[in-house]
Amino acid sequence: MRRILVTGALGQIGTELVPALRRRYGADRVVASDYRTMAADLPATEGIFEQVDCTRIEQIQEAVRRYDVGAIYHLAALLSALAEEKPQVAWDLNMGGLYRVLEVARQYRCQVFLPSSIGAFGPTTPPDNTPQDTIQRPTTIYGVTKVAGELLSDYYARRFGLDARGLRLPGIISHTAPPGGGTTDYAVDIFYQAIRYRHYTCFLGPDTGLDMMYMPDTIDAIIRLMEADPARLIHRNAFNVTAMNFTPERLAEEIRKHIPEFAIDYEVDPGRQAIADSWPRSIDDSAARAEWDWSPSYDLESMTRDMLEKLGRRLRAAP
Ligand code: SER
Repeated sequence: MRRILVTGALGQIGTELVPALRRRYGADRVVASDYRTMAADLPATEGIFEQVDCTRIEQIQEAVRRYDVGAIYHLAALLSALAEEKPQVAWDLNMGGLYRVLEVARQYRCQVFLPSSIGAFGPTTPPDNTPQDTIQRPTTIYGVTKVAGELLSDYYARRFGLDARGLRLPGIISHTAPPGGGTTDYAVDIFYQAIRYRHYTCFLGPDTGLDMMYMPDTIDAIIRLMEADPARLIHRNAFNVTAMNFTPERLAEEIRKHIPEFAIDYEVDPGRQAIADSWPRSIDDSAARAEWDWSPSYDLESMTRDMLEKLGRRLRAAP
């Protein structure tokens, strides 16, 4: 089996996907890469690590050649709020990085995993139970690169027979590496603040409903999709997936079941609120369920319990 290359391996998803891939396929079969140099305390670095800047095609080619890579999990990207602050950088990395990865994958016949997002939808998309195939006119640079990436991946699949697969991920909640610069980051920050200070000031308004998913389900979704029988995949590049849906107020209520004195207040950031308001309130993931048996394990209750337990243990050990 040829090796797997993970870009953005030191980011929120990469930090947990790399160890999961190493457990499943063998430690020496997974090459972690990031534009940053490795931080010794992250689990993603226990194994082969290469510094790869995805805006430099020769660096991607070199890693693929040197390690005989047969699959690229391309996670390197700026999240929505940060992308909105630096649209030119976001275009270079999110769009240019994806294009370069597809080109290298075409040259070396690699399978590719590409994360899309609920950010690929916009204000004219039906906002409730958003269908798999619907209007996509996002108003953020993040969304523009996601839609263009979905289309470009479909093009490479059709034109060059590339096995490119992808998910439209909702907000991801995890306790290992924090997200950075995303609109859904509040759903992670809230746990750190609840454990440390029993208080959180939320940058989205109390009634902002968005879909979310716990990291173990995200990892499971990525691996399951990449291993799925290609004959069953009709929508190969951009499956809607979700596991739970809540507002900040509902999440705070759930946390209070474990920390009764927890208090939340709101200082709405107009920039991130506008991004959230342009996204669907909830999405329909029935295509993923039908085509590759997607079925999440965690709901709001079980995710909250697990986050408080695992993050609490970690923060007590190293506050
Ligand atoms: N979690 C992402 C963000 O907020 C959405 O894809 O940017």
